[in-house]
Amino acid sequence: MKRKTPQELRSHRWLGTSDMRSFGHRSRAKQMGYALEDFAGKPVIAILNTWSDLSTCHSHFRDRAQEVKRGVWQAGGFPVELPALAITEIFMKPSPMMYRNLLAMDTEELLRSQPVDGAVLMGGCDKTTPGLLMGAISMNLPIIYLPAGPMLRGNWNGQPLGSGSDVWKYWAEKCAGNIGDEEWNEMEDGIARSAGHCMTMGTASTMTSLAETLGMTLPGAASIPAVDANHPRMATACGRRIVEMVWEDLKPRDILTMQSFANAITADMAIGGSTNAIIHLVAMAGRAGIRLDLKKFDEIAQRTPMIANIRPSGKYLMEDFYYAGGLRALLNQIRGLLHADAATINGRTLGENIANTKVHNDDVIRSMENPVVSIGGTAVLHGNLAPDGAVIKPTACDPKLWRHTGRAVVFKDYNDLKARIDDEALDVDETSVIVLQNAGPLGAGMPEWGMLPIPKKLLVKGVRDMVRISDARMSGTSYGACVLHVAPESYAGGPLAFVGDGDLIELDVPNRTLNL
Ligand code: FES
Repeated sequence: MKRKTPQELRSHRWLGTSDMRSFGHRSRAKQMGYALEDFAGKPVIAILNTWSDLSTCHSHFRDRAQEVKRGVWQAGGFPVELPALAITEIFMKPSPMMYRNLLAMDTEELLRSQPVDGAVLMGGCDKTTPGLLMGAISMNLPIIYLPAGPMLRGNWNGQPLGSGSDVWKYWAEKCAGNIGDEEWNEMEDGIARSAGHCMTMGTASTMTSLAETLGMTLPGAASIPAVDANHPRMATACGRRIVEMVWEDLKPRDILTMQSFANAITADMAIGGSTNAIIHLVAMAGRAGIRLDLKKFDEIAQRTPMIANIRPSGKYLMEDFYYAGGLRALLNQIRGLLHADAATINGRTLGENIANTKVHNDDVIRSMENPVVSIGGTAVLHGNLAPDGAVIKPTACDPKLWRHTGRAVVFKDYNDLKARIDDEALDVDETSVIVLQNAGPLGAGMPEWGMLPIPKKLLVKGVRDMVRISDARMSGTSYGACVLHVAPESYAGGPLAFVGDGDLIELDVPNRTLNL
């Protein structure tokens, strides 16, 4: 393999030449206490750190950045830590979705405008994975993605609690009067117990798993819990490897192909991933010049069983998934559905990276013959209500609702929904279809409102799932018969805008249709 020379490094233009500008660059590096021996002729490795005091899922990133630096120094590189936009899913309003592309621009410009030869991207909380990768794919310098890792299982009275999923579940019980303030407050103390991102198969675990499947992380990296000692060791290994990648000139667009994106979609279906993955994968592929359409997702969904038994579609949490063998063991189970010869950042193929991995708990990671659900985690629907498509997560809803016809109960926007959903006089029963309009990208910034609340009067009667339809997204931790991303959106005059109370809506997941 041809290796770069120090003179061929991108940073050489800043730090290696002898002109007036490079005098300035070197003298300012020395201003920070570095000697020529620290940086001369070495790959400059940017560590893009999405840490902030409000980025709860990345609270360990200041330590991890030091561990990456250790690996970079060991391998003969020069590490520089650069803060990048910390998109915090929990705190940002109106929707962190609006900031994903800002992070992509931030990433691209941080790498482009400065003397950087390669980068380690530190993210994990939902939008940070696609945001960082989109910018880095556009810039196309050698990069490694360092996933934050899931937090430990939540705990309440000895029972595991899952991020998001158990909030929705127990909130419904609280609204129904089945648990009181005391229990609710105890859960608040126990549901988020360590550094790391949400530990259900929400958008964070989905996107980090897909980054690994795409070949953009070290093998096994996405499943390691944030506070496991293997996590800092992985961070140091990222530092060592990225220096080599710069010399090898191994860049994202050498790795990302239609086959690697097909692998990512297959993994998404097998893990029961977040519906948000569709939006992010399409955007990431676009940066690599690859066009993914909805048909591709549905084609793969129809042949890929869901084998990860993780909430919200299954029973366990990401910590259990790690102990059961993690993503590599899961991919080995569906090896026959993957393009095993796809390249990855460690220089080996995906097939080589997952070879000989074993499942240690076959209830957490099932086999193709004994899946959790026989179809993939996301279904794409079409019909006169969604001519450009809509999505649903059939693995996370009551299968009785896969085929359902019901009367629409329509809310014209989120404020209308909030004002009337619990009104005793609302004409609604468990067979109704709840519709929310004006919650799409133009209508409201496409927030995660799509798990529309079930009216309190039905919760009290024991109803826990209903068909709900909107042009919003929903959290990857959410569940229920929620049809999402209805396109064209109602704000732009899509058919959803014309649904009225009492209109009949027919959902047919097996036939992939949604009709008024
Ligand atoms: Fe960060 Fe869920 S809030 S991953």
